[in-house]
Amino acid sequence: MNPPAKESVSVLMVCLGNICRSPTAEGVFRAGVQAAGLSSHIRVDSAGTSNWHVGEPPDGRSIRAAAQRRYDLSRQRARQVTTRDFEEFDYILAMDSMNLRELQMRCPEAMQHKLGLMLSYGDTGKSEVPDPYDGGHDGFELVLDLLESACDDLLMRIRKDLAL
Ligand code: 4NP
Repeated sequence: MNPPAKESVSVLMVCLGNICRSPTAEGVFRAGVQAAGLSSHIRVDSAGTSNWHVGEPPDGRSIRAAAQRRYDLSRQRARQVTTRDFEEFDYILAMDSMNLRELQMRCPEAMQHKLGLMLSYGDTGKSEVPDPYDGGHDGFELVLDLLESACDDLLMRIRKDLAL
């Protein structure tokens, strides 16, 4: 007998501070999951490799740029990646290669296959979501543009895998 098909998946978005890129990824992906009526099948969360902003809401510039596209990030609070995350989440997606290296160093061998770059999804022509923290407004818009494309593709692939 075949094992029962997996009915749910969990996705963890990871950046450095968990106040700009990964909260945006969480908000954009969650909106897509909700619009598809799949909230009971797909769990989404985000975390940072650093503990610099733990407990803080996303950067005001991220909240405002996202709100203009109708994503609400305001209730999120930053947290740091934990060892348990490697067990719990099915997809652990880094915003840039430095985030990915950090995850690879902390992740148990048996869970390494869960790690990847967020922009391995979508057709953006880029491999990394650039850190907008020290730049201007355009950087926050670019983060949204890249993540909308990646999140669309990620959702499509998960739906295909789960036959949803
Ligand atoms: P994030 O951006 O990794 O997209 O949340 C950053 C936020 C804060 C800092 C760096 C990056 N920081 O240096 O405090």
